[in-house]
Amino acid sequence: MTANKTPEHPLQLSGAEMRALGARAMEMVVRHFENNRDEPVACTLPRATTELLLRTPLSEHGTPVNELLDIVARDVFPNSLKTDHPRFYSFVPSPTNFVSVVGDLLTSGHNVFAGHWMAASSAAQVELTVLDWLKELIGFPADGAGIFVSGGSMANLSAIAAARDDRLGGPAADAVVYCSDQTHSSVAKGLRLIGFAPNQRRIVATDDDLRLSIPALEAAIRADLAAGLRPFCVVANAGTTNTGAVDPLGPLAQLCAREGLWLHVDGAYGAAAVITERGRAALAGIELADSVTLDPHKWLFQPYELGCLLVRDAGALRRAFRIEDDDHPDYLVDVVRHVKHDVNFFEYGPQLTRSFKALKLWLSLRAFGLAEFRRAVDVGFDMAEHAERTLRASGAWEVVTPAQMGIVTFRWRDDTKTPQEIDAITSRTVDLMREDGYALVMSTMLRGRPALRLCPINPGTTAAEIDETIARLQRFSAQGNPA
Ligand SMILES: Cc1ncc(COP(=O)(O)O)c(C=O)c1O
Repeated sequence: MTANKTPEHPLQLSGAEMRALGARAMEMVVRHFENNRDEPVACTLPRATTELLLRTPLSEHGTPVNELLDIVARDVFPNSLKTDHPRFYSFVPSPTNFVSVVGDLLTSGHNVFAGHWMAASSAAQVELTVLDWLKELIGFPADGAGIFVSGGSMANLSAIAAARDDRLGGPAADAVVYCSDQTHSSVAKGLRLIGFAPNQRRIVATDDDLRLSIPALEAAIRADLAAGLRPFCVVANAGTTNTGAVDPLGPLAQLCAREGLWLHVDGAYGAAAVITERGRAALAGIELADSVTLDPHKWLFQPYELGCLLVRDAGALRRAFRIEDDDHPDYLVDVVRHVKHDVNFFEYGPQLTRSFKALKLWLSLRAFGLAEFRRAVDVGFDMAEHAERTLRASGAWEVVTPAQMGIVTFRWRDDTKTPQEIDAITSRTVDLMREDGYALVMSTMLRGRPALRLCPINPGTTAAEIDETIARLQRFSAQGNPA
C-alpha cells in the first residue's frame, strides 16, 4: 500500500486501504496492551543510535506505509520509558485504558474543532458534562467552570492567570504568590511565563510531613504586607509528586478567605483520588479552593494529553481568558454574533483551536462506570501500602515517607554507614535496577538527600510484582557501599 498516492485526490486512501492500515495499526495497539507486562519496562538509546535508526532526508516520494509502521514498531515505541507498564513505578505513571485509546482515535479521526459552540455544540456539551462530573466529585459548586487543557503545566499556568486577573486586575510588580518547597516546577515556570519575577514567589517551608506550614505561611504574608507588597495567591499541593503529601487544605482555605487570597490547589497528580474513600479523606478541604488542577492523564487512566482546570467562579475564568469585542478576529464575526451566550472554550483558556479533549474521558467513564475507576485508583493506594508494609517488615529499609496517595519513599538502612554512604547506595541501586530491567524505580530528593520512590498506581500491578521489585532493590542495595 502506498498511502500517499491515489489516482484522484492528493493525500487520500481508498476505503480498502484505510481499513487495512487501520486494522494493522489497531493490531499493534492491541498487542501492546496484551504484551506490555512481558516487554521491557524502559529503554533509552543514545542520540548517536537514534540518529542512525531514524534520521532520513525528507523525500519527494512516498514510502509504503507498512514499511513505516515496521520502523515505528521496531525503532520507535520500544525505545521509551513505558509509563503504562505495570512495573513502571517512577515519576507519575500513566496507565491508560483501551476505551480511551479508541476515544483518541475517534477524536483525531473526526478532527472536531472544539474551540467554540458553533463548531462543536455536542462536543462542547460532552465536555461541559464531564466538567460537571469532575466539579461534583471535587465538591465544587455546579455553577463553577473549567476547561480541559494539555496537562498540569497548562492548567496551573491558566489558574494563576485567572487568579491574577481576579485579584489584581492584571500584572502587578508588587504582587506575591506563595507555594511550598514541594510545589511542582510547573508553577514557577507558569509564573515566569506570565510575567512574574522570581522575587514575587515565596517558597514557604514545609513541616515534618512535607506539608506546607501554616505558621510559616502566615509569617511570610505578614512580612510582605508590612513591606507594602500585595499577597494575592496561595498554591497548595493535593498530592505532591515527591511523596504524595497533601497540604492542609481546609486551614489554608480559611486563611486565604481571611486574607482575600486566591487558593489554587495543584491536584494534577492527586485530585483524582477524591473518587475513593482514602482519597476523599486525604483531600478534605479541596472543595473550598478557588481553583483545582486535576490531570486525567495521571490518575484517571487517560492517554496523554489531558489535563483539567476547575474554577469555582466561572466569571473569573472567563474574564481572564476573554477576548475583548474589539479584539475578535474579523473572520470570527459570525461566530461571535451568533454564539455570544453559549460556552465557547476559547474564552476559558489559552487556545482558540483545540481538540475535543474530553471525549476519551467521557467514553471511558460511561463505559466502565465510576465504581470501576474507583477500584482502579484503590489499587494504587493498596500497592503503595503493601510496599510500605513489606519494606518495614524486612527491617532492611528506613521508610522516609509512609504510603500516601499511592507513593512511598525509603532508603537503605545500615547503621554502620554514614549518610553519604547510604546516599551513594541509593543512587547506585537506581542504576543497578535500571540495568536489571525488571521494574523502573527512581529516586527523588527529600530534604537534600536521595530516597527511593515507588508510585505503583497502575491498576494492573500485583503485590507479587511489588515484592519482587523490593527483593531486587534489597539485593542491589546489599551489594555494599559503592564509594
Ligand atoms: C503535582 C504536579 N503538578 C503539575 C504537573 C505538571 O503536569 P504536566 O506534566 O501534565 O504538564 C505534574 C507532573 O507530573 C505534577 O505531578
